[in-house]
Amino acid sequence: MFEFIEEQITNFKKIVFVTGAGISQESGIPTFRGKDGLWRNHDAMKLATIDAFYDNPKLVWEWYNERRMNIFQAQPNAGHKAIAELEKYAEVVVLTQNIDGLHQKAGSSKVLELHGSIVKIKCTVCNFKEEILEEFSDVPPVCKCGNILRPDVVWFGESLPQDVWQNAMSFANSCDLMIIAGTSLVVSPANTLPMYAKQNNAILIEINPENTEMSEDMGLVIRSTSAKVLPELVSLFKKSYD
Ligand code: APR
Repeated sequence: MFEFIEEQITNFKKIVFVTGAGISQESGIPTFRGKDGLWRNHDAMKLATIDAFYDNPKLVWEWYNERRMNIFQAQPNAGHKAIAELEKYAEVVVLTQNIDGLHQKAGSSKVLELHGSIVKIKCTVCNFKEEILEEFSDVPPVCKCGNILRPDVVWFGESLPQDVWQNAMSFANSCDLMIIAGTSLVVSPANTLPMYAKQNNAILIEINPENTEMSEDMGLVIRSTSAKVLPELVSLFKKSYD
């Protein structure tokens, strides 16, 4: 599977992962666009845009509440754990589009949540922010200042926090190996990260059972699941180092 990089495995000192919903699929969290994805039962544009939120905050909160419960039950899978274990052999940074916190739960120490986090909420007006781990009984929840609270996530049409994006780009620009796992690469600007890495001569590896918009730009494409493939990558490092 990894013959392509086997001999140079010890050259990889800075590894960046770009991950998406697919890496959490084996933890029981549905993807957005995969065959049985989340969006199949919901109209994406009705749930994850600022307009949809102001149009019907209750509906958007009900959907997030449902996702929060699903995510709080979820455990990291072998793919998340393998990424965490790889920190023994290289500097590893995870640039994730996921808001489920499973990389951190698996033990990854450097995770940038490009699209925010399901546990974080913030006020739509004042600068109140908090991490809430339980379900909201009545939605939409209201801030002490009297305005409604919203999930602290990046919705379609909103830009990523400037500092998060700047950091993500600099990690992409300075890695020697980028592994793109579990993402369809259809949402920008996350889908530009592989290009930054490629411009800096990083090797790109895609791990996805399906084709993506950038499969032909990759150095290596592995048509399989992350929970299966990533532990194999770790054993390759283990063999070369231990
Ligand atoms: N292992 C690896 N990849 C998988 C697996 C798996 N077990 N199962 C599915 N996949 C792949 C699918 O083939 C698909 O290409 O994961 C990808 C998931 O793509 P999306 O559902 O589009 O999710 P993602 O790329 O994370 O979406 C990006 O879009 O809706 C917004 O903000 C949301 O962060 C999300 C962004």
